[in-house]
Amino acid sequence: MVKKVLVTGGAGFIGSHVCKALAKRGHEPVVYDNLSTGHRDLVRYGRLIEGDVGDGERLQAMLRNERIDAVIHLAGLCYPADSMRAPLAYYQQNVRNSLVLCDAMAAAGVGTLVFSSSCSVYGHASEAVDEQATLSPMSPYARSKMLVEQMLSDIAVEQDWTAVSLRYFNAAGADPDGELGEWHEPEPHLIPRVLMAATGTLAELVVHGTDYPTADGTCVRDYCHVTDLAVAHVLALERVQTRGALSIFNLGNERGFSVLEIIQAVETELGLTVPVRLAGRRPGDPASVSASSRKARDELGWSPQYASLTDIIRTAHRSLAARPNRTSS
Ligand SMILES: NC(=O)c1ccc[n+]([C@@H]2O[C@H](COP(=O)([O-])OP(=O)(O)OC[C@H]3O[C@@H](n4cnc5c(N)ncnc54)[C@H](O)[C@@H]3O)[C@@H](O)[C@H]2O)c1
Repeated sequence: MVKKVLVTGGAGFIGSHVCKALAKRGHEPVVYDNLSTGHRDLVRYGRLIEGDVGDGERLQAMLRNERIDAVIHLAGLCYPADSMRAPLAYYQQNVRNSLVLCDAMAAAGVGTLVFSSSCSVYGHASEAVDEQATLSPMSPYARSKMLVEQMLSDIAVEQDWTAVSLRYFNAAGADPDGELGEWHEPEPHLIPRVLMAATGTLAELVVHGTDYPTADGTCVRDYCHVTDLAVAHVLALERVQTRGALSIFNLGNERGFSVLEIIQAVETELGLTVPVRLAGRRPGDPASVSASSRKARDELGWSPQYASLTDIIRTAHRSLAARPNRTSS
């Protein structure tokens, strides 16, 4: 059944791709975003309503007036290292605002929610971690995601909601059609930073930590193409029938790459050298994280289409070239 879906954070990197995936399946996305880190230019699918998730009254009126069937909640602050310096902002933006959203949904009678969680809830999770693993968040950001999941599992029972938490591993790449991209400013994510250093937009790539217990001493992450992540949201809306519980799924490619392996892959793909500076560890960074996504494959029928590092690097490179100035938002 076609759904009208409110996408909080739909003007951001992952949210814009989610809106495209929804539209391609015939659903109607409505973007709700305060454009704090998002871009008006990334809203290509669905209408943009400018607003803040912290504004419960506005949200509630909008959910009713727009006759929203379901909410995909991506809006929030996103960076573990940043959260070590600003925990209050992270708990306000991620935990408090999620509670405000749930309250508005309950009041407006909207009972379907897909939440953007993160592999950071696991902390250090070296080999193909599954959803049953013990949670060991290492930063206020990661704890904020864990707290929202705990909150949602209680609220889902009491409100009889269909609630889904998608634990993304590292989102990367960009829309293969070249319409959407990753346009963070400043850019914190590794693959675009390596590309920027290779092409001279960044003076050098700082590698944070070379003494981790990994094969080459640098951090290992499981990179998942943003288009594959986006499709998983649509599958979650269409296929999860369970009510009165929070269903949790990992989304990753089940293979980790170290920072040095990413640098090497970018150098090979572009035929350029990445200027590198080795530095100490950053607080809040686990050594190694990779996913088991078996549950998403089995229960959602999720099957990543852009799993190769080459696809991820090529699409990310193209999106970097199309990146607008911040003034465009
Ligand atoms: N990028 C990743 O690798 C990754 C990994 C795991 C989880 N996540 C989660 O996915 C979500 C989206 O991440 P992203 O990389 O697309 O980030 P992003 O910064 O590109 O997008 C976030 C969007 O939310 C909007 N926003 C922020 N606070 C808001 C508020 N109070 N009200 C309304 N809009 C608000 C921003 O303007 C932006 O458009 C986040 O919840 C993040 O924690 C991201």
